[in-house]
Amino acid sequence: NSEVFILAIESSCDDTAAAVLKNDQVLSNVVANQLIHNQYGGVVPELASRAHQQNIVPVIDAALRKANITKEQLSAIAFTQGPGLMGSLLVGSSFAKSLSLALQIPLLAVNHMQAHILAHFIAEEGYNKPTFPFLALTISGGHTQIVKVNDFFDMEIIGETTDDAVGEAFDKSAKILGLPYPGGPLVDKYAQLGDPKAFEFTKPKVPGLDFSFSGLKTAILYFIQKKKLENPNFVEENLNAICASIQHNIIEILMDKLKLAVKETGIKQIAIGGGVSANSGIRTTLKAAESKYGWTTYIPKFEYTTDNAAMIGIVGYQKFLSQNFETSAVVSKARIQF
Ligand code: KG4
Ligand code: ZN
Repeated sequence: NSEVFILAIESSCDDTAAAVLKNDQVLSNVVANQLIHNQYGGVVPELASRAHQQNIVPVIDAALRKANITKEQLSAIAFTQGPGLMGSLLVGSSFAKSLSLALQIPLLAVNHMQAHILAHFIAEEGYNKPTFPFLALTISGGHTQIVKVNDFFDMEIIGETTDDAVGEAFDKSAKILGLPYPGGPLVDKYAQLGDPKAFEFTKPKVPGLDFSFSGLKTAILYFIQKKKLENPNFVEENLNAICASIQHNIIEILMDKLKLAVKETGIKQIAIGGGVSANSGIRTTLKAAESKYGWTTYIPKFEYTTDNAAMIGIVGYQKFLSQNFETSAVVSKARIQF
């Protein structure tokens, strides 16, 4: 029987997600966002694990229902092993273990960062999958990496942030502007209406393929404080231009490093993943790089870029094919590389 049905569970941070895949096709992809954190200006780990506890059963039920699949039809259960918040990871892994024991089907442990990269292998109409080797730029609230992807499970991090992740750069800048958390999508929205060259912020000097984003928020903070002395309404009157300029600065930092990575590796296939790859400026700039630099770029569907369980499912499917199963002794890991 060549039909493999995988239930995938993702609970590494503040989204409780479940998906059902039939081979490499997504039958359902359900995410429950935890809005509780917005009022605190960031994810509160204790509240995240409690919300996962509340959400996990209804989210999994919804995923099975939407896929029109019964538990008995499942071939395996995939879950996020890490990296992430321990209290959040434990909810997903405990549930996955219990279900795999109860149904007597294999358990598949998935690395969340590998999943952001391998999300490109989800079968979608009209979507061309990357071929190996390619470069992956993973940009999220917790990570900023350039990864050389040689094969499904052969990946090398060739550059990463030395301080803040790019999502944090967006969110912290937004906070300085008085925008609610998470500010990334709002910066994107206002940036579309403003002049990206209106204001200039210095770019960090980091050698090689590594990144630094912590200087940007300080630069913005001082800039805003100074401008507010001259005009207390400076932010309100220039919000679009400020957002466009911040986004422009971040995109230039990312593009400079990508260009260097292409030069150093000779690989011109670029795939992006992680929540920040939803950014419209990044998407347009990468698309334009195809004709500008001769790159081939892979930009997944929005729902597969932010945290989701379909990406966990596609990695699970690859592991299923190679019978790479785990026992119920497998442990969650807050920090893991590949
Ligand atoms: O991958 P993700 O959903 O969760 C993590 O694993 O971190 O990424 C969330 C991050 C947040 O920092 C959020 O502000 C940012 O992605 N983000 C965006 C956009 N959409 C989400 N940043 C800039 N522009 C966007 N359109
Ligand atoms: Zn993520």
